[in-house]
Amino acid sequence: MSNRIFKNLNLKYPIIQGGMAVRVSTAPLAGAVASAGGVGVIAATGMGIEELRREIKEAKKIAMNGIIGVNVMYAVRNFSVLVKTALQEKVDLVISGAGFSRDIFSWGKEAEIPIFTIVSSGRLAKIAEKYGASAVIAEGSEAGGHLGTDRPTAEILPEIKGAVKIPVIAAGGITTSSDIVKMMGLGADGIQMATRFVLSKECSVAESFKNHYLNAREEDIVIIKSPVGLPGRAIRNNFSEALNRGELPDITCNNCLKACSHEYCILEALENSRLGNIDRGVVFSGQNVYKIKEILPVKKIIHELSGAFAEKATI
Ligand SMILES: Cc1cc2nc3c(=O)[nH]c(=O)nc-3n(C[C@H](O)[C@H](O)[C@H](O)COP(=O)(O)O)c2cc1C
Repeated sequence: MSNRIFKNLNLKYPIIQGGMAVRVSTAPLAGAVASAGGVGVIAATGMGIEELRREIKEAKKIAMNGIIGVNVMYAVRNFSVLVKTALQEKVDLVISGAGFSRDIFSWGKEAEIPIFTIVSSGRLAKIAEKYGASAVIAEGSEAGGHLGTDRPTAEILPEIKGAVKIPVIAAGGITTSSDIVKMMGLGADGIQMATRFVLSKECSVAESFKNHYLNAREEDIVIIKSPVGLPGRAIRNNFSEALNRGELPDITCNNCLKACSHEYCILEALENSRLGNIDRGVVFSGQNVYKIKEILPVKKIIHELSGAFAEKATI
């Protein structure tokens, strides 16, 4: 397989496991994806420096020379510290999402570590390329978590592919190998998947979080308002219903976001659900979660998807 960015590293399949805050994608999941030949990603958002260092070290041990990245949301106040910690720990790539940082590209260049940027339009992809992104992730409206667009992945992908020369990774709503074949047909150089990997043995969220995913019906996938200032895709629960009615929970503010509406604490809400306190939290998930019916080991998930890459795989 030709391998443009990760030259000497063990990338078998251009599958990136999307970063999932808060502590949904940690070392056990990222390490398993990397050791199975994909790119494993730790979500740093919501973590402190020492915790992130420990997670990276542990993921690298599990990864057996596979590729480990770190995702940081631009919206968090400690964005620069988390990115710099990941670079010091010599991860293989850093991905920035939920906002646009120009500075990250010079930090990446200095550390000689590739920076991937999540974008939702050709215009933003061009800007990312100009500043020095090694690749862009074209994330459409089917994605889980904070959304940068209301346009589906299949619509933004050709636009973004046509706007830049760097590799373009498709993300949002991809759950099967036929979804991957479709995205590669539209010009994707690789894909990013998150929701599918929550329903893996290695993802260390509470069992009730996984059950909430398994029990979700198509009509249960909703858009919620996040204090970050972006809409978020999640699974309906008592918390999302209360938000809809304008009944906002009490918050203890940790001043964690650069800009926050202070309606509730999104990091606390994500942490609550991850720990199993589903009805006191936000359960972020992609649009197509209802199509996934079983919890599998990461190795098996990747094996089932790998057939889609028979022809080309180049990031
Ligand atoms: C639980 C959850 C948490 C997420 N957290 C983040 C995050 O911290 N940073 C980020 O850039 N994207 C985040 N995302 C988006 C994913 O990384 C990914 O791009 C997107 O969900 C892809 O769509 P899919 O879930 O349908 O595969 C999150 C998604 C989920 C489901």
